[in-house]
Amino acid sequence: MKLYRIQDPFILTIFGASGDLAKEKIFPALYSLMEQKRFPADFWIIGYARTEKDIQTFRQEFEQSVIQKNKGGVDKNILNKLLDHVFYFTGQYDQKKSFIDFQKYHRELIKDKKIMHMAYFSVPPQAFKPIIQNLGETKKASDDVRLIIEKPFGEDTASATDLFHFIAGYFEEEKVYLLDHYLGKSVVQSILHLRECNRILNTLLVGDDIANIQITAFESAGVNSRIGYFDQVGLTKDMIQSHLLQVLALITMAIPVTDTAESLHREKYNILSSLSFIPNPKNIVIGQYQSYCQKRDVDSCSPTETFSAVRLFIDRQNWYNVPIYIRTGKMLKKKKTSIVIEFKKFAFQPKEDPANLLVIELYPEEKMSLKLITKNGVGKMENKVITTSDSLACSGDDCLPEHGLLLLDIVRGRKTHFLNFPQIIAAWQVTEKMLKTMKKMKPEIYKDGSTGPDSQNNLTAMDKFAWHEL
Ligand SMILES: NC(=O)c1ccc[n+]([C@@H]2O[C@H](COP(=O)([O-])OP(=O)(O)OC[C@H]3O[C@@H](n4cnc5c(N)ncnc54)[C@H](OP(=O)(O)O)[C@@H]3O)[C@@H](O)[C@H]2O)c1
Repeated sequence: MKLYRIQDPFILTIFGASGDLAKEKIFPALYSLMEQKRFPADFWIIGYARTEKDIQTFRQEFEQSVIQKNKGGVDKNILNKLLDHVFYFTGQYDQKKSFIDFQKYHRELIKDKKIMHMAYFSVPPQAFKPIIQNLGETKKASDDVRLIIEKPFGEDTASATDLFHFIAGYFEEEKVYLLDHYLGKSVVQSILHLRECNRILNTLLVGDDIANIQITAFESAGVNSRIGYFDQVGLTKDMIQSHLLQVLALITMAIPVTDTAESLHREKYNILSSLSFIPNPKNIVIGQYQSYCQKRDVDSCSPTETFSAVRLFIDRQNWYNVPIYIRTGKMLKKKKTSIVIEFKKFAFQPKEDPANLLVIELYPEEKMSLKLITKNGVGKMENKVITTSDSLACSGDDCLPEHGLLLLDIVRGRKTHFLNFPQIIAAWQVTEKMLKTMKKMKPEIYKDGSTGPDSQNNLTAMDKFAWHEL
């Protein structure tokens, strides 16, 4: 299979290139793109940050982060070729003079050619506005500048709306790519492909036939290096507000009938803006792993939740009264991410019969399974579960890290796997209701390496259901 290759020269500037996101995700993804020969002959990757350093030091840091992340080994020849395209510029985010100097710097590099410029915001959200303003004020009207901004977009409805208006003051919406890296996972992208290609699946994916939907995203690791950020934010904002609500929207939205990003965004918005969280503590469970408060730079009794489970509904005719359960946690027994769709039984079926399940596993396996029931044994009295399953693992063009796949979309001007502000704001509106309800609650302490707080079972038990543990 022929892989897509970027044809035209480009510049990628990474603001905040000295930070965690750049080292953990962006540099390794750039190496994968180089390894798969996706780059044209001419391209420039420029790290921009306030920290003073020369190009050689930056190239060494780049190299180290690629080597550390690629446990399977790195081809030094390919890496060295990539490093020849890597540069560094020391500048401030809030000083126009730095941006004027930067313009001069990259014009010298590209010898004044007109090429696409991608500007990646790998900085904390407080640096977004000054960079947007300075980039906007120093670019020429004819420049093709595309902004790549990674979540979180604001910290509530008001700040997300404010960011939306601020960006609109400097850049056309078409040029802004709002990135949630979950949507760059090829297995998450396969949810839409599965639904688009299989009418049989969509006939089943309606509230009349579905008993409940369960989305689980568990981590076995704790908070580690990003604890300063995490302690201010908590898991409901960090995981549910964007990643998991986006997954929910992909499962429950109407399939867009035209293959455009606009129609996909509209259908997702229809779901996100119809989400209903009833603000009662019985609809949310928060927890904290036992050793969280022992971490060095966290206040000893910080109430930040490292586990969050919520019960939601979709206020739309075809999803009426179908409970949606979402749970996510850190420092748990097993890292796993899955979507389980439980189908209703016939009214005449015995309650103890197992239910039909459609299971989409995102981690550790990437596969879809359908669980059907039959009878077993001489008197045909025993239930037997038949599972049909197949892999959803990537193939060909899709086999790249999230940030690599999304970068190729940006080059091609494809916005399908990005967010837009109406969706973000709708997701904040429902998340704010959860956060407000949580404020009156204390997290339940759970043991490190356990399955999380026991009270998560109350959420499903309320509707006479139980979590399906895969
Ligand atoms: N890390 C991840 O895995 C991850 C995952 C998803 C989303 N994100 C989002 O991606 C963005 C970057 O994350 P990150 O973890 O890379 O952040 P970070 O390491 O804290 O910061 C990145 C760089 O920004 C500069 N910086 C730090 N604090 C700043 C401040 N208060 N004002 C201006 N500049 C500051 C620093 O560079 P200089 O001082 O050298 O300029 C720093 O090296 C954030 O919005 C984050 O929420 C990160």
